[in-house]
Amino acid sequence: MRRYHVTTFGCQMNAHDSERIKGMLESLGLGEAAAPEDADIVVFNTCTIREKPDTKLAAYLGDAAARKRRRPDMVVAVGGCYAEAQRERIFERYPFVDVAFGPGSIPHLGDWIRAGGYAVPRGRFGSHETFAATLPMHRERRFSAWVQVSMGCNSKCAYCIVPAVRGREQSRRPGEIVAEVERLAVDGVKEITLLGQNVNSWGRDLAPGLVTEFGELLRACDVVEGIERIRFTSPHPKDFREPVVAAIAECESVCEHVHLPLQSGSSRILKAMRRTYSRERYLSLVERLRAAIPDLALGTDVIVGFPGETEVDFCETLEVVEAVGFDSAFTFVYSPRVGTEAAEMPDQVPEELKRERMERLVEVVQRGAAVRNEGRVGLVEEVLVEGPSRTDPALLRGRTRRNTTVNFTGTAAPGDMVPVTIEGATSTTLKGRETTLVPA
Ligand code: 5AD
Ligand code: SF4
Repeated sequence: MRRYHVTTFGCQMNAHDSERIKGMLESLGLGEAAAPEDADIVVFNTCTIREKPDTKLAAYLGDAAARKRRRPDMVVAVGGCYAEAQRERIFERYPFVDVAFGPGSIPHLGDWIRAGGYAVPRGRFGSHETFAATLPMHRERRFSAWVQVSMGCNSKCAYCIVPAVRGREQSRRPGEIVAEVERLAVDGVKEITLLGQNVNSWGRDLAPGLVTEFGELLRACDVVEGIERIRFTSPHPKDFREPVVAAIAECESVCEHVHLPLQSGSSRILKAMRRTYSRERYLSLVERLRAAIPDLALGTDVIVGFPGETEVDFCETLEVVEAVGFDSAFTFVYSPRVGTEAAEMPDQVPEELKRERMERLVEVVQRGAAVRNEGRVGLVEEVLVEGPSRTDPALLRGRTRRNTTVNFTGTAAPGDMVPVTIEGATSTTLKGRETTLVPA
């Protein structure tokens, strides 16, 4: 049997796209190889959000090129966001690449491979055509699953390459989404994460009449029997309207966890970023969410060193991060991307200053998250068991509804939903003990 291997970079959307890539290759009769060294077709599903993934990919491709010199019949396919961004140059830069495809053309990969046998004609490229969501799927996890609700993004964030590589927003039809959630539930999935570049603008491009608002979509997923947890990522603060807040508050399965990218705490920088909200509007949204959803966990993304960011702007970011008290935060050093508005802006912040600000930010983030997690000590949390702990195989690992990882002692099996008494906390994880609840 011919074998494939997929290496995935980047975000959850890309990880999910890889599940579709694998599903499709398997439908062609290929089997999964444990390592790229054993594969006849190697696929790299790439990311280009910052410079780092680009350099990492170059190293992986170097290895693939060396293997291909020994085995010229091996097929090298490069997909995803970097492939799309570099579509003009990819075959020039990496002449051993056989197939390149953007995130919108995953459905064609199978045709190209089938048509060309294994001597795939070089240079195939297509993009933004069909939903990968309709392809067969090779799911990576048994009890949790991603469900794509849209592709592309209509925002114009000045730093971001995603709209250029993933195209304009296209919503998947609600009936299709709910049908997929129902199928997953039958398959034993307990937790779903709805995925979109901007989930809460989902539906605005659909014909009116059916469900066309994200809060309603959450409610439609909430009634699916067997789905006990619903998550979604990422919402844009500018599109967070009342019906979505109400749906999170009222739907039993929708988790008390919102990932709400802040990016900057300075209204001046937010404006330059074209985020279309101010620091005040972000803070009042946080207040509304917390008033409506008791026990809400908030995550965020923050960029330091956007062009023109001064010490004053940066201190405003620190203030907001401190004031909100995020449960988790991803922090990024601004990375100019060719083709974005911000890459052309004057006053790029020197690398050294970016690094220094990053360190200060990380300290504030960690301090805040540690305080939030310590607040859970003594409570009993519902945990969905994932498997053994990554650091200590004697312990189990799972996640709370608030999306915090817990390492705990107990006898539960993967997929179980168990009460865990929280006994300790760091800035990123909790520690605990599986607990038997005595019925009242
Ligand atoms: N540089 C640094 N961080 C970026 N992000 C997006 N584009 C860039 C960039 N050019 C961050 C944002 C986004 C997250 C997925 O990546 O914070 O929310
Ligand atoms: Fe995901 Fe963006 Fe990276 Fe593409 S560029 S994989 S959308 S993070």
